[in-house]
This record gives sequence, structure tokens and C-alpha cells, in this order.
Amino acid sequence: VSRAVGAKPRLFVTFSLPPEVRAVIADSFDAHYAEAPGALARPGTEPALAACELVLVTATDTLDAAAVAALPASVRAVATYSVGHEHIDLAAARARGLAIYHTPDVLSEACAEVGLLLLLGAARRATESIALVRGGGWQGWTPLQLNGWGLTGKRLGVVGMGRIGREIATRARAFGMDIHYYNRSRLAPELEAGARYHASAESLLPVSQFLMLACPATADTIGFLNAARIAQLPRGAIVGNIARGSLVVDEDLVAALKTGQVAAAGLDVFNHEPDIHPAYFDLPNCFMLPHVGSATIETRVEMGRLVIDSLQAFLRGEPRGNRLA
Ligand code: DGY
Repeated sequence: VSRAVGAKPRLFVTFSLPPEVRAVIADSFDAHYAEAPGALARPGTEPALAACELVLVTATDTLDAAAVAALPASVRAVATYSVGHEHIDLAAARARGLAIYHTPDVLSEACAEVGLLLLLGAARRATESIALVRGGGWQGWTPLQLNGWGLTGKRLGVVGMGRIGREIATRARAFGMDIHYYNRSRLAPELEAGARYHASAESLLPVSQFLMLACPATADTIGFLNAARIAQLPRGAIVGNIARGSLVVDEDLVAALKTGQVAAAGLDVFNHEPDIHPAYFDLPNCFMLPHVGSATIETRVEMGRLVIDSLQAFLRGEPRGNRLA
């Protein structure tokens, strides 16, 4: 699309944004809001999209090779309002000359807070505790009631020591946990901050009394937590997933939660969201949240600022570290 001198660049947004972010967008862009998941693929979207050079999507929009190919020729850059980018085929984007941006860093602390919530909620039996109080069945304090497992003094194995993994490690350390991690490569000592590196999952899993999945979903990590790996954990391990549901083979985790091989799990993400494997609902030792890792008001605003900065940098032709393609 050619833009008249002084005209604001047109931006197609597939979802609703906080009012603070909308206001900043309005200053610099002529934005069209579709405000519904799947907007890119919906019939009737084409005219609005074809008038835009910039697109803002989220992790629930699919930009596989076919969707990238189907984008109108006007579209030059796409930003995703997420750190995860497995929904975007980067090779297809590169081949088409499409710039892609995501939102790392600004959400790491918020996700790490929920990471700790998952470990605490699972270990301290939050699902059963909440059900007891809200169900009106609580008879008062007793020494044997709802005893869970403490974090203090336990070993936490972190799978994926990126920005979010490291923030989880920092917080877990404050809870008195001993941090071990498995990552594609060993971190520099200042980033490691005393955490023990394991060069393989096979080395990490047997020491992980608690295990946190914090790596992206890639061809190498999808299905990571399967029966064979669960069997390598110490019996009664506690598992958290702050990353992506696809890292877990649900049937295998369900089986382990039933036998006690995994004592409890805290899950913020699921395969096929918003559907959840029905067996989890029957398991009181499964603590579940609806993908709220980055859901703080502050973080949503920061994510908005970052996508706006990114798209403006794109228009000025400036390089940026959060450009993926
Ligand atoms: C992210 O930023 O990747 C969140 O998980 C939202 O999808």
C-alpha cells in the first residue's frame, strides 16, 4: 500500500488491547481492530487487511506457511503480542520477506511469578484446599489435614534456562531451592548464578524433586515430558509447566499423577487450548490455571509498548533484537 505523506501507517490488530495501549497506538497508527480470535483466516477480513502494511497478532492466531502465503501483498511486518512464536512459520515469513517481531523480556517476571504459583499450588495442594473451603466442608484445623510438600531445601530442575527460566530460578532460590537446569548450552556464570548445569535431560531428571518446564515449543521439545522421562524423575516429583501444553504427553502425565510417580502437577498451559484433557479434572493433585503466565496489567501494557516500538523501528528501517525474521 502506498501511504500519503503525513498519513499514519495502517495496522490490523486481531484482538482487544488494554485502553492504555490503544491510546498509544492511536497516536501513531491508523488501527483496525478485528477483536476476535482467528480474524486473519475469517472470510470478509481481506479488505481491511489488504489496506494494512502492519499486523498485530497473538499466540492464538495461526501464521503457518499457508496463512503467510495468503497474507495480502500490502503486509510487510507482523508483531505477535507474545513471547512464544511457534504459531508463526518463520522460514515462510523470511521467504516472503515478511518481518516478524515478538515480546520477550517484558513478561519474564510475570511468568516467573506464575511459575512459582504453579509449584506452590501443586505442592501445597491448592486445588483440594480451595475445594474444601469453597465447598463448605471444612471442619477446622487438624494436624493431618491437607499436608503437602515444602519447597524449602528441595532440588528444582528447570528445563529451558532462558529469560523466564532464569527468573523462576531467582525466585525459587529465595524459597530455599537448589537449582539445576538443562539447556541447549551452558549459561555464562553470572547468568547461572550458582545453578548446576546438566548437558542432558537424562542427567537433570533423576535429581529433579521439582521440575519446571520453561522452554519454547519446538520440534525438539514437543512431547518432552513423556512416560519414559517421567519414569526418570524421583518418585513423588512435582511438575510445573509454564511454557506450552505441547511439551507434555497428557496421557503419560495423567497416568503418573494417578500412580503417585508424579505427586502433583501445576499447569498453566495445555495441549489444544482452551480444551483441557478431561482426565485432569478428576485429579485433585492437578492445579490448573488458564494460561495466565503473563497476565498482569503492567505486563500487558509493556507488551503493547514493545510491539509499538518494534513496528515503529521497522518503519524507520532500524534493527531490533526482538525481530525474529
Ligand atoms: C506468550 O507470550 O507466549 C504467552 O504464553 C501468551 O501466548
